[in-house]
Amino acid sequence: MTLSCIVTGGAGFIGSNFLHLLAETRPDWKVVNLDALTYAGNLENLKSIEARKNYTFVHGDIREPDQVEKAFAAAGDGCVVVHFAAESHVDRSIQSGIPFVTTNVVGTQVLLDASRKHGVTRFVHVSTDEVYGSLGDTGFFTEETPIQPNSPYSASKAASDFLVRAACHTHHFPGLITRCSNNYGPYQFPEKLIPLMIANASESKPLPVYGDGMNVRDWLYVVDHCEAILAVLEKGRVGDVYNIGGHNEYPNLFIVKTILKTLGRPESLIHYVKDRPGHDRRYAIDASKIERELGWRPRYKFEDALPLTIRWYQSQTEWLQRVRNGAYREYYAHQYGN
Ligand code: NAD
Ligand code: DAU
Repeated sequence: MTLSCIVTGGAGFIGSNFLHLLAETRPDWKVVNLDALTYAGNLENLKSIEARKNYTFVHGDIREPDQVEKAFAAAGDGCVVVHFAAESHVDRSIQSGIPFVTTNVVGTQVLLDASRKHGVTRFVHVSTDEVYGSLGDTGFFTEETPIQPNSPYSASKAASDFLVRAACHTHHFPGLITRCSNNYGPYQFPEKLIPLMIANASESKPLPVYGDGMNVRDWLYVVDHCEAILAVLEKGRVGDVYNIGGHNEYPNLFIVKTILKTLGRPESLIHYVKDRPGHDRRYAIDASKIERELGWRPRYKFEDALPLTIRWYQSQTEWLQRVRNGAYREYYAHQYGN
């Protein structure tokens, strides 16, 4: 089936990987990328896509109804929406929560209102396992786990989940929610653990490990996440929540040491630094619902996809350098004014 699809936040890490997936697997779809190009948005992630005739970039902020209207004008009424746009970094939310509330909460409501007005047929809200809070040494997050967010970031995502749920309940809105664990792969902004550690190790710079390094995250290759989102968009039940994860639980220190070993760098580069305030101890996802109901399974094994990711960053030194020195923003500033 050929669809018209608005993707918000398509210049970011997961959004750009999703656009690559659509270009490969749904080449007939009309795709509109609505992105404000914050520090996390990088059009260089989309170089191979921008010339496609059925792809349109709309420079706009989801908090601004007039700018959201431009995306709907390009996509047409009755389109579908996949909503990635968000402030996504926990440490930044601890420094200042306001942008998280305005984009993740207010922006999502603006998008929901516009989506209702334009008769959107499906709306996938890309959320996170962090809304469930933190686990002890055992157990998994299921879709029934109580929502107990611990950071301003996860609290703002939880609020946005509730707004989508409320739209479904009150307005019979065709919303679906996904909650995925930590992603890694190409085009991730090097403020997040894996790309930061690869970048620093490559330059023999210190690798800052928070606390004792024993916090556990459940890692999923970004392509697997994107394929799960596509499955939810095409086959998911309206009003439902789908957890996404691949049972790859590792302590941060294991990840950091594996990166150092793969790059042939010494463990003396590890620097233990002050812990993140309110640092969640462990995340682990039970993804049996999406596996059972939609037939999705991760295709990538962690042992293969981490080295693949490391090789990608090694082969993309120019991309990484331009992100690290800010050149990626200067290049687009004259075109888009921020
Ligand atoms: P990211 O920070 O790399 O990208 C966010 C994108 O949203 C950027 O392109 C940015 O320019 C855009 N954006 C931000 N504010 C905007 C606004 N007001 N209007 C329009 N565009 C705006 O994020 P990511 O890591 O790709 O995450 C994408 C989504 O997936 C987020 O909703 C996040 O909560 C969720 N998620 C992320 C992970 C992960 O491990 N990264 C895991 C689970 C869920
Ligand atoms: O679980 C899904 C979430 O995963 C997403 O919703 C978020 O958008 C995404 O940023 C990610 O959140 P985390 O806080 O888990 O990711 P981050 O890469 O920031 O940190 C991963 C772990 O590594 C965490 O325990 C903190 C630690 N860490 C992180 C950084 C940046 C370090 O020890 N040192 C660091 O420098």
